[in-house]
Amino acid sequence: MEEKSSARILLQIQKLPLSPLTDVYIQQSKLVSHGCFFSSAPSTAVDLLQLVFVLVAHLQLVELGEFQIGDNIKPLDPKTVASIVRYGKLRFPMIHKATGYSLVYSQMYPFEGLQNYTSGIIHHVRLTGLEPNTLYYYRCGDPSLPSMSDIYSFKTMPASGPRCYPSRIAVVGDLGLTYNSSSTINHLMRNKPDLVLLVGDLSYANLYLTNGTSSDCYSCSFPDTPVHETYQPRWDYWGRFMQPLVSKVPIMMVQGNHEIELQAENRTFASFSSRYAFPYKESGSSSPFYYSFNAGGIHFVVLGGYAAYSITADQYKWLQKDLSRVNREVTPWLVATWHPPWYSSYTAHYREAECMKVAMEDLLYRYGVDIVFNGHVHAYERSNRVYNYTLDPCGPVYITIGDGGNREKMAITHADETGKCPEPSTTPDEFMGGFCAYNFTTGPAAGKFCWDQQPEYSAYRESSFGHGNLEVKNETHALWTWHRNQDMYTKVGDQIYIVRQPKRCPVEPKGFS
Ligand SMILES: [Fe+2]
Repeated sequence: MEEKSSARILLQIQKLPLSPLTDVYIQQSKLVSHGCFFSSAPSTAVDLLQLVFVLVAHLQLVELGEFQIGDNIKPLDPKTVASIVRYGKLRFPMIHKATGYSLVYSQMYPFEGLQNYTSGIIHHVRLTGLEPNTLYYYRCGDPSLPSMSDIYSFKTMPASGPRCYPSRIAVVGDLGLTYNSSSTINHLMRNKPDLVLLVGDLSYANLYLTNGTSSDCYSCSFPDTPVHETYQPRWDYWGRFMQPLVSKVPIMMVQGNHEIELQAENRTFASFSSRYAFPYKESGSSSPFYYSFNAGGIHFVVLGGYAAYSITADQYKWLQKDLSRVNREVTPWLVATWHPPWYSSYTAHYREAECMKVAMEDLLYRYGVDIVFNGHVHAYERSNRVYNYTLDPCGPVYITIGDGGNREKMAITHADETGKCPEPSTTPDEFMGGFCAYNFTTGPAAGKFCWDQQPEYSAYRESSFGHGNLEVKNETHALWTWHRNQDMYTKVGDQIYIVRQPKRCPVEPKGFS
């Protein structure tokens, strides 16, 4: 009973424009739904039995309009349509009903010649009282119009415990909306994950101008201002592209640099924050950019690579508190994720997140993080266990999985290749600023900014698009598998058992190790 009462689901319903990807017939002057999307997240650190899910449903509201883009736009009134989800263990009848709230967001440019955007109505609905490891059916919409979607289903995460794990967690980053993105998602879905982790850089809407054409620079129109042009309908298209996956499988998201979308009045992350939900309040965080949750016996910590992370910052203090509360007897596995990698040997973004690493690496090491997932670099790389650039059996395994297939180039060159080591002055993070990367003082690369061969921390690296799967088997063994898009989905590109050694590597807090 305790688990049932503490289990919760969070859902979003989002109104989207009709696009070539839609699969329903829209009747004139009648509100018609064309299906629920949903993304969901498991439990938070605060309540180990709590399950939090995010459900995103996209409705076509002919009477109420779609997103608008142009010179003369008028934001929709979110109150014109209710946010209702019906759900239950049985397809018929669905005995439960949850009501949420809705919102719209706009991107307005203070320059002539650009098209402004205002979104469709985005609905957020939280379901409560869900049981762990249970299949639920649901539909969403506004029954008074009527506009209810088709019936979909999802399965909740297992309850937290050292012997309870989701069968397969898919991980991918830097996805975008290209033919390669489609191949990645097709492969990922064929491998039937129970949970999906997207490690940032989702729609790449900021690589398109407001007229919908693509661009290779963020500020071509306004090189002297921080305001960047974006084509927000790409977010709507990306959401529709993801519907077959996220209508069925829980999904958690990490902020990436392409989600920043700096706008007038220093507004950032408007689309990312409006469209998706994050269990940050449940995990004691004050920001949707850093939060934690449990998936069975795994405690996930999501960090913001583009939020303040210094020792005096709120994120750091929250992280310290969150890690100190993890009971490794309940959640033996500790997995951290953020967007820009600390351990990547590719030239692209080489040591770009060094300031974050300097600030936070010690904390993650002391609390015994087992695995770190990053994106940002458009390739695959898996590290050996490492701490402070030195092989360490108690350090995390770092996995860069930014090979989802977006429209930017794949990372191919390595910083250790002749002539490919970047100038140190070119490496600071563009958004966060600061400069923390200097020549190494110890180890094989002492006195240099780059190794002259593949660094010893780099166990395997390959420039192919793909995705990965984490299968935690028990308290000490987890199987990690990377799949290339050019292979059949079952073929293995890289595979390793990641083994925890809790006796060899005691972690804080001592009482739980
Ligand atoms: Fe990125």
